Amino acid sequence: MESSIMQGASILATGSAVPDLCVSNQTLSQIVDTSDDWIVTRTGIKERRLVAKDQSLVDLAALASTRALNKASISPLEIDLIILATSSPSDLFGSASKLQATISANNAIAFDLTAACSGFVLGIVTATQFIQNGSYKNILVVGADVLSRWTDWSDRSTCILFGDGAGAAILQACPRHENGILGFQLNTDGNKSDQLSIAYQEHFAKTSLHEILNIKQGFFQQITMNGKEVYKFAVSKVPASISKCLQSLNISSEQVNWLLLHQANERILNAVADRLSIPSSKLISNLEKYGNTSAASIPLALDEAIKEDKIKFNDLIVISGFGAGLTWGTVIIKWKC
Ligand code: UT7
Repeated sequence: MESSIMQGASILATGSAVPDLCVSNQTLSQIVDTSDDWIVTRTGIKERRLVAKDQSLVDLAALASTRALNKASISPLEIDLIILATSSPSDLFGSASKLQATISANNAIAFDLTAACSGFVLGIVTATQFIQNGSYKNILVVGADVLSRWTDWSDRSTCILFGDGAGAAILQACPRHENGILGFQLNTDGNKSDQLSIAYQEHFAKTSLHEILNIKQGFFQQITMNGKEVYKFAVSKVPASISKCLQSLNISSEQVNWLLLHQANERILNAVADRLSIPSSKLISNLEKYGNTSAASIPLALDEAIKEDKIKFNDLIVISGFGAGLTWGTVIIKWKC
């Protein structure tokens, strides 16, 4: 890839934010027929954070972004582009522009990217193209979701999984030989889109106006998921994507320092690591504290791993997202901070 790029791209800093409200498995067992033991054994999740009534997706995204900007010591005015990966915007037209205004990144253009739990990976890959082709210098990529607003709290098979959060990364242009975003591998299988969705439902109450115009209107439903199918998809497709990406870069799995997967289920994380012969000690995981935070899960875990001083200069990090769409993909990063 390096030969065709005009300039390199690397992650300059990260930030994250989670709501204060912490809900334990014990609390959920008072709402649906479940137990702490079942949830921990089947998923690895112990608790999750949920947004309060007066908090919004943009509040969380702005906090994560401001923390990343502060860490990078750059002004919001230096940001050229904001990509907000989310499937739970506050506005169906998108929330990125509201985020731009909230953090006063007045020179940035901003757009939403909808790709569920793969959103952050797609956001990083998209941002990298704009930097490597010379269009932009500083890009803020945010993964944020508040799926608690779309969760069916009477469905024990899904409500125990999800939590809310936001994570941000600032990508910056650098000389070609210092490029840190080494390669990627992306996939979509729309034939399986109904396995995990927040579907649109037509509303059948017809008014004379709808009859005259010959149109329908409706609303979005709550999350539905075929857990077993999504599980099988993840443990087969994600290792294949990672292997393909590693191969394309001539990197062996032994050379990988960190494996950072979308935080969906501890069993999925371990199964993927096993299939790649990567020891579980190289897995980055914070699932037990936050559950599945969708587009936020990868940047949230990345930010925590950096704060814990796990990731060192020149470490190779394999990052994979997977989920609704179905979408899945890998980006391989050489850490340059
Ligand atoms: O972010 C997108 C990616 N999403 C994922 O990767 C999710 C992938 N799927 C999964 O993680 C797992 O399939 C789940 C955690 C959702 C479910 O685990 P599972 O081991 O596949 O359980 P299951 O669906 O096979 O259910 C086993 C049993 C069933 O009872 P019976 O039919 O055996 O009597 C369920 O009704 O467990 C029951 N069950 C529960 N029991 C207690 C399902 N949910 C619960 C629950 N508490 N919360």
